[in-house]
Amino acid sequence: DWKMGDFVDSTIAAIKEKVGDGKALCALSGGVDSSVAAVMMSKAIGKQLTCVFVDHGLLRKDEGESVDAVFGPDGPYDLNFVHVDARERFYKKLAGVTEPEQKRKIIGEEFIRVFEEEAKKIGAVDYLVQGTIYPDVIESGLGDSAVIKSHHNVGGLPDYVDFKEIIEPLRMLFKDEVRRAGLELGIPEKLVYRQPFPGPGLGIRIIGDVTPEKVKIVQEADAIYREEIAKAMEGGVIPKYGQPGTIGQYFAALTNMRSVGVMGDFRTYDYAIALRAVMTSDFMTAEAAQLPWDVLGKVTNRIVNEVEHVNRVMYDCTSKPPGTIEFE
Ligand code: XMP
Repeated sequence: DWKMGDFVDSTIAAIKEKVGDGKALCALSGGVDSSVAAVMMSKAIGKQLTCVFVDHGLLRKDEGESVDAVFGPDGPYDLNFVHVDARERFYKKLAGVTEPEQKRKIIGEEFIRVFEEEAKKIGAVDYLVQGTIYPDVIESGLGDSAVIKSHHNVGGLPDYVDFKEIIEPLRMLFKDEVRRAGLELGIPEKLVYRQPFPGPGLGIRIIGDVTPEKVKIVQEADAIYREEIAKAMEGGVIPKYGQPGTIGQYFAALTNMRSVGVMGDFRTYDYAIALRAVMTSDFMTAEAAQLPWDVLGKVTNRIVNEVEHVNRVMYDCTSKPPGTIEFE
């Protein structure tokens, strides 16, 4: 009988043994995976761990603040926390880049660079901790399967990195198991049942090149979408997150398509937002969620009225496969 508590305990013991009196640096995104990895590491090695949260300018609206609230000095955990504002440097690197894999590669490499720099400041950091989970490992083609997408938090160390090793404590777990491990570690349910958010962030929810203006558009649209979904969950219109029949993931993406619309007496030529919501248990396969039309209508109205440069909203009905959950 395989128990999550045993897994957590033995993983913590193994980390302790491995790291000894060395130092580790944890890449904290604020998502479920890296949060669970961070708390697990913190339980194992305490202040030998530094958590670095990088604001790459591709976060959801208000996300930086909510990460600070949980992991910062006023939060419940006793760990070294560094918040790096790297927005400008990511935007600069991404300027004009349209090819999805190239975008992912740039974001992933820039991440590593930022961590390297933070590591140098701390000095003698031996280990890099990442919240890689099992589906990431499979889909990055580390097994026999072909590369579908290069997940930026998988794949080992590039040559230029001078950490000794990467520690991936969740490497063998599926998402639902990560959540159970999180609860086992005493992480608040609110955080544990947060919907996943990919490392490359809004960078892969903006089709084509990334600009600060496009980031702002997708942030605003996504915030409205999440707000209305939350209301629908509160009101019992759709199941609450984590409950049977729940939506696994939902977000707005910015298509690179502009189309003609009409606003009052004027012609508009603006962007189309795509809404995605999927039912999934393991994120390896997924089906489009049958969201109530009323909810979609309300979200659509609010987005076209409240978000500048958007005049059209579309709903993505595609399963995975053949689609993926994200757009790039
Ligand atoms: P896809 O788009 O591959 O997504 O169907 C499956 C799940 O993985 C998340 N995802 C990522 N998570 N780094 C991550 O940490 C990544 O590069 C990445 N790409 C996709 C996605 O949000 C979904 O939950």
